[in-house]
Amino acid sequence: MGKVKDLRPIKLQERKLLAINQLLLPKELKWETLETYQQVAKAIKDMVVRGAPLIGVVGAYGFAIGVNQIVSQNQDLSKAEEVYNTLKNTRPTAVNLFWALDRMWNKLQKLINNGVEKETIVETLFKEAKKIEMEDYHANRNIGGYGEVFLPEKGNILTHCNTGALATSGWGTALGIIRTAFENGKDIKVFVDETRPYLQGARLTAWELEYEGIPHYLITDNSAGFLMKKGMVDAVVVGADRITRNGDVANKIGTYTLSVLAKEHNIPFYVAAPTSTFDLKTLKGEDIPIEERPQEEVKTCGGKQIAPDGTQAINYSFDITPSSNITAIITERGIISPVNRENVEKFFEYKGG
Ligand code: MRU
Repeated sequence: MGKVKDLRPIKLQERKLLAINQLLLPKELKWETLETYQQVAKAIKDMVVRGAPLIGVVGAYGFAIGVNQIVSQNQDLSKAEEVYNTLKNTRPTAVNLFWALDRMWNKLQKLINNGVEKETIVETLFKEAKKIEMEDYHANRNIGGYGEVFLPEKGNILTHCNTGALATSGWGTALGIIRTAFENGKDIKVFVDETRPYLQGARLTAWELEYEGIPHYLITDNSAGFLMKKGMVDAVVVGADRITRNGDVANKIGTYTLSVLAKEHNIPFYVAAPTSTFDLKTLKGEDIPIEERPQEEVKTCGGKQIAPDGTQAINYSFDITPSSNITAIITERGIISPVNRENVEKFFEYKGG
């Protein structure tokens, strides 16, 4: 059995959040200290921390940090709305952020309504954020267990973006499945899409796999079709930023293209995500707000300009994969397959509202 090393992207230290600065990897492993909710919001917006589950967890800690600031400065707790809104307005696509902030907000309202003393409120909010973090970690371990049975004893798995320990509380979703398979002794090799423009694959996934000794090859984003055609890919496993009620998936730009290629070549296409990534209030993928990031990210690579000054670039950060292209969605509570509205609603016992 391969032994997989533990890697956690954040830690709490006396009401401050320490986070690995993901902008500096793979060259430098540096921890940033986030002491105010404004610093937490900036870290999410600037992608110092990123990945749908992780920004949810960091958002929750940011909320607790913000309420702590309010209480320490003797301000009114109604100011918490500003904290909530600042954190909410950082990135628009991953629903885990809104899910976690709503949970923290509701917890705060309950504590206020019950007349709980301010210092206890702060303490309870930090505990709630820790709970969200640990729930996410355990969800990932379960996703790994449910998902690894879909991977062959020996084979090549293609993945996109970074869905590992760095994108979550630890372990990972899609990469967590690969980790679990490796830990269980499967002979797995990973094709890592470099994932332009932010290079989460080249910089982060390759770094995680290297750290753990899991065999992998970095490929350019446009290689996938050729590798599939040559019979070199046994399965595609990706994560998700938001899954709607009909099973459509928003994930890193390029995921949709991979799903079309996988379908064409009869290769199973799996999406791994915790249930906190589902947005049942939204019916279909087209209704998901898609983040657009600065053109400069496309016009540069590794800090170097690669296009003429006057060239315009389009930089959608995510795309939508229709449910019909997905073989199965793997969650911590089990599998959804075939992926369609009826099965998603059944899975969540959805009754509307
Ligand atoms: O822009 P990012 O790096 O936050 O995007 C991350 C992704 O698209 C991941 O695939 C997704 O969040 C799932 S992470 C478990």
